[in-house]
Amino acid sequence: MRRPQREALLGMPERVTIYEVGARDGLQNERTLVPVEVKAQFIRRLVAAGLDMVETTSFVAPSWVPQLADSAALLGLLGEAGRRRNRPVLVPNERGLDAALAQGAQAIAIFGSSTESFARKNLNRGLDESIAMFVPVVERARAEGLWVRAYLSMCFGDPWEGEVPIDQVVDVASRMMDLGCDQLSLGDTIGTGTTGHVHRLLDALDDKGIGVGDIGVHFHDTYGQALANTLAALAHGVTVVDASAGGLGGCPYAMSATGNLATEDLVWALDGLGIETGVDLEALVETSVWMAGQLGRPSPSRVVTVLAGTTGAAEND
Ligand code: HMG
Ligand code: MG
Repeated sequence: MRRPQREALLGMPERVTIYEVGARDGLQNERTLVPVEVKAQFIRRLVAAGLDMVETTSFVAPSWVPQLADSAALLGLLGEAGRRRNRPVLVPNERGLDAALAQGAQAIAIFGSSTESFARKNLNRGLDESIAMFVPVVERARAEGLWVRAYLSMCFGDPWEGEVPIDQVVDVASRMMDLGCDQLSLGDTIGTGTTGHVHRLLDALDDKGIGVGDIGVHFHDTYGQALANTLAALAHGVTVVDASAGGLGGCPYAMSATGNLATEDLVWALDGLGIETGVDLEALVETSVWMAGQLGRPSPSRVVTVLAGTTGAAEND
């Protein structure tokens, strides 16, 4: 079968916005430098496949993430198509904001951590210092009329600290949103979260005034829980889901992080539920197969593997 049978489920949203992170989260961990023309082509193909919200790159220190050191060149290549409110770029500090603004970026994402350990590993700052670093970034971005997302990592567990108390996550989330951000993305950076945990965290955030309308979910699939956790979040009312074409990805500063939820696996699940995404699954699979060829290894996505014909199951079923 090349598409699932549609059977709707009461309580699920009618439409979901997929926030595609393949070009940023997906590629940032690749050791071999991907040519900037290939990145631009990847992004154009993702957009052509119907993905509306596409994060393109990061304006971070090149010594920290060498793969994305070409961010200015990439936005230059993308032209007007890269300077939109639905093409966010990651920005950690004012230096990154200056560079993003110089390229005409219209949307940025800051990225904080629920834990002290990961703030230090990922941003070379303690948690308080990292939030202090974001203050002028968000202030200036808003003054320039930019859309601002706040990522929050290690919401469901941390490789150095272990369990992360829900109260602690909610506290940092409130501080990030109080900066004036438009959206909060809850990061399960190392993929340890489970469905009950998702519901409890969303309840606790709601109690503090951060409702599902302000929230996106960002699940890495390290323990195979990403799709289950996403469906739990949708049942709770969330309608923005981060995913990475072909399941590319991982964070270079979080040991044991693997790829995000694969966009194709998400689209298959949502299509079966009759939930609109606007994505052309065949075009997306072709894009991920092409990108896997550029990277020299197959996509870990189950749906890509089957629909690309490598197992033959799509034809034989
Ligand atoms: P630092 O070393 O403390 O920075 O790093 P610094 O201010 O001391 O500067 C060091 C050098 O970097 C200087 O250069 C700066 O100019 C330069 P020098 O003077 O020595 O030649 N520099 C920059 N260059 C370009 N753009 C910039 C920039 N800033 C400084 N923006 C810093 C602090 C925040 C810069 C560093 O820690 C950093 O870049 N971290 C980024 C790490 C990263 O990108 N991680 C992956 C993204 S987060 C993620 O994947 C999680 C997420 O997916 C959600 C989830 O899964 O949970 C979002
Ligand atoms: Mg991530």
